[in-house]
Amino acid sequence: DIYFQALTAGKKPITTTDPNKLEQQAREAMSPQGFNYLFGGAGEQATMHANRLAFRQWKVIPRMLRDTLPRNLSVKLFGKTYDSPILMAPIGVQSAYHADAETGVAKACAALNVPFIYSTASKTETRPPTSSAPTLVPDSKPSRWFQLYWPVDDDITASLLSRARVAGCEVLVVTLDTFTMAWRPLDLDTGFLPFAVGEGNALGFSDSVFRQKFADKFGGEAAVEDNILAASRYWAGEVFSGHAHKWEDLATLRKLWGDRPIVLKGVLSVEDAVLAARSGVDGIIVSNHGGRQLDGAVPSLEMLPEIVDAVGDRLTVMFDSGIRTGVDVLKALALGAKAVLVGRPVIYGLGITGTEGAKHVLASLLADVDQSMGLLGAQTVAELNRSMLRKISYGG
Ligand code: FNR
Repeated sequence: DIYFQALTAGKKPITTTDPNKLEQQAREAMSPQGFNYLFGGAGEQATMHANRLAFRQWKVIPRMLRDTLPRNLSVKLFGKTYDSPILMAPIGVQSAYHADAETGVAKACAALNVPFIYSTASKTETRPPTSSAPTLVPDSKPSRWFQLYWPVDDDITASLLSRARVAGCEVLVVTLDTFTMAWRPLDLDTGFLPFAVGEGNALGFSDSVFRQKFADKFGGEAAVEDNILAASRYWAGEVFSGHAHKWEDLATLRKLWGDRPIVLKGVLSVEDAVLAARSGVDGIIVSNHGGRQLDGAVPSLEMLPEIVDAVGDRLTVMFDSGIRTGVDVLKALALGAKAVLVGRPVIYGLGITGTEGAKHVLASLLADVDQSMGLLGAQTVAELNRSMLRKISYGG
């Protein structure tokens, strides 16, 4: 279908389905600050590039004359069946890329049954501070998860989590690798630090516990809105505070979140994966934050097989960092990931034409996964395994 649509669709929202051209179109459509923040990696971007090279090293070995129709991309995560193994990665400050922001991406995800992971660093907060019925992001049915940048203050954490629960978030994703911002020369060069000017802080700013604490700290009636800079600093200090938490503190999150699943994002070592399994969480995301945190960190694909071998029987192991094509998705699944998160490409679509652009990118990726799975000789995700892969050092 996607071929025929592409050939007949007259004026398409985005003119390309090629990942590299998509990046180029986004560069042309967006402000330099917004694009650089979205595109960039940390340091000299070595890990960001290595994420792609790691995918190139693996080649797939297709099988012929097999039944591959009707294809079924569904996967089961934490007892629930999802239409496909693709989730929208939590991406902060989406209003910096297009006015449609989180609401637009959530809509695009809803249209395609892709779970939307709502970032703590989100600008869109539709709930008026006084309302008792938070909606976080509207129209993000059928499935939304909540990503936590874990505040130092347990009262604030409790408040955020209770709002996320009431808003219907099914899974808590706790990001471990961003307790402080990495060294990002691109943003330093363009002078862009979204959190410092209020962007992406809406969830915190509208939180009644945070507001009360802000007023207490800055005197009486001090309103967040009257002093965005001070509020930004206070909020950033809460969520990017350095090493505030340890493994044993996960018990606090379990108490606050209850029995819904908890997933740790940013696990790269086998040792930490084993600690995660012992800590009582339900899953992990093997991730280096798309190469945006510790530059020089190992590509997450490189660590995926060892981590799956160590904890795959106890934890739901998911993956992100560097996925750009359908066959990338299949490689991660064949190496043992139960699902994958996709970040930048969808937001390039958002940056180019808003909601429709995000939807175009997601729909194209899903079609690519479907088609490539057939060409590989598989009908269901469960059939993907390591016998379909070969690691080849000359890349290409
Ligand atoms: C991110 N990522 C991220 N992760 C998270 O847990 N909370 C967040 O708020 C953000 N914000 C964010 C902003 C931008 C602009 C990017 C590019 C990434 C990381 C994200 O969830 C994911 O790990 C990576 O994007 C995956 O790599 P790819 O798919 O972009 O290569």
